[in-house]
Amino acid sequence: MIDYKQKVATAISVAVDGSLNEKDIFYKIEVPKALNLGDYAFPAFALAKYLHKAPQIIATELVEKIDKKGFEKVEAVGPYINFFLDKKDYSNNILNEVLNEQDNFGSQDLGKSNNVPIDMSSPNIAKPMSMGHLRSTVIGNAIANLLAKTNYVPVKINHLGDWGTQFGKLMCAYKMWGSEEEVKKDPIATLLKYYVRFHEEDVDKPELDDDAREWFKRLEDGDKEATQLWKWFRSESLKEFIQIYDELGIKFDSYNGEAFYNDKMDEIVELLEQKNLLKESNGAQIVDLSKYDLNPALIKRSDGATLYITRDLAAALYRKRTYNFTQSLYVVGNEQTNHFKQLKAVLKEMGYDWSDDIHHIPFGLITSGGKKLSTRAGRVILLQDVLNDAISLASKQIDEKNPSLANKKQVAHDVGVGAVVFHDLKNERLNNFDFDLEEVVRFEGETGPYVQYAHARAMSILRKAGVSELGTASYELDDNQAWETLRLLGDFPNTIERAVVEYEPSVIAKYAIHLAKAFNKYYAHSKILKADKQKAARIALVASVAVVLKEALRLLGVAAPDEM
Ligand code: ARG
Repeated sequence: MIDYKQKVATAISVAVDGSLNEKDIFYKIEVPKALNLGDYAFPAFALAKYLHKAPQIIATELVEKIDKKGFEKVEAVGPYINFFLDKKDYSNNILNEVLNEQDNFGSQDLGKSNNVPIDMSSPNIAKPMSMGHLRSTVIGNAIANLLAKTNYVPVKINHLGDWGTQFGKLMCAYKMWGSEEEVKKDPIATLLKYYVRFHEEDVDKPELDDDAREWFKRLEDGDKEATQLWKWFRSESLKEFIQIYDELGIKFDSYNGEAFYNDKMDEIVELLEQKNLLKESNGAQIVDLSKYDLNPALIKRSDGATLYITRDLAAALYRKRTYNFTQSLYVVGNEQTNHFKQLKAVLKEMGYDWSDDIHHIPFGLITSGGKKLSTRAGRVILLQDVLNDAISLASKQIDEKNPSLANKKQVAHDVGVGAVVFHDLKNERLNNFDFDLEEVVRFEGETGPYVQYAHARAMSILRKAGVSELGTASYELDDNQAWETLRLLGDFPNTIERAVVEYEPSVIAKYAIHLAKAFNKYYAHSKILKADKQKAARIALVASVAVVLKEALRLLGVAAPDEM
């Protein structure tokens, strides 16, 4: 991709004859908000202190001196110099580039093949996957796709919540009231039911807690029955989780959950002891973090049991050793911000400089009717239900709009699931947002289906035009109506870079909406298939839009059906 901003910088630098160097000029160049102010603008204020003249005058004088070759026009407006790119030259370059590179367009080498573990999804065994886990899953997946696109090697790790004293309670409950058949029929819901009942009954029968502790102890000691039960709860739960992952088209590289680190925690405790970091507090072992302005990290309880953070310390060290990462990501809700601050602080105290490479990627809550979703208030949204509802809503819309569509079932799936995923990703990840299914699946407005529909429209134009493959050719297009779309195509590589640097998939989702809107406007104002000199260039534009929309959606983990 030709760097047009650089071209502008060079033109100015030659004209100012060294009063400001090219690099400084480059960083001062802006992209005007409105297209009628040109494609790039240079504020002449930047030169006032060298040239001792008013910026307006500098702008007017400089415009005379600038070599305008390759620009449509260069004009002074007040203190600004506005540059208008040569549309034919630009369109020819960008369209050939997109069509040559196809879905590789926008790929770049930021990562130098370095490994990046991404801790994502990480639901808890025997509990339903929440909307928060869904957010972690889709945000993590999109970040992984963006990392791969920029030549990092993402490693998607599902750090399952598969260990802890709650398993003692669950086993105790199962032994009292459980039935194998019932669990098999509906594993997570049934296990949750036992667990809830345990908590109801242990209010009056505190001896249940002793039994639960006993069961957990048996599990920790590797007792055969306890281990078998634990394995069974885990695999039944995982089966349900994997159904949802399959629905979303998301795969993990590792399901090493908390239990995986059981035999790796002694080392952590020893290291902390060696470094004199452990302190006793009411029988428990803690690491004091007051110099970080954080609460102490509780490493070992008075009964000797290790904790969530102990397992995360072991996991962090294991990942460093296994993947030798340059950054290690944790896509987890912002309610765990302090936990990750503590994790990093303890690692730092242990002398690991790479603790700076650990990044918590927090995100906000999904609300319903403006309220937090919670089990107690009855506002639990079950993921599988949400996806099923979205698919049937999509299917209804397709029946109305395109009843003769082939593959209706597949398309309804892609549109329904895609809508839920897109809705999640178009919001900046830290924002809370409200979930309203009807709105999510609408074909108009800033939705996933809207973007998918723009892509399908582009594909349908190409089918009508009867073109299958477009080779390198001269694609000169100076149509004003096409300009916004062309500029957006050229912005795709930078947009990807921004999204990955900020770990912010919403940058891509917003870009996709923007491109879909610009393209729809173009489509409404132009006769694309009219037989004239620029027809081939217009078709190349449509084909390029299809490539880029599809690739943007793919990065988000959303499918782009050819027809809908
Ligand atoms: N299982 C935890 C939860 O549901 C999330 C785990 C996040 N990952 C981690 N390494 N701590 O809250």
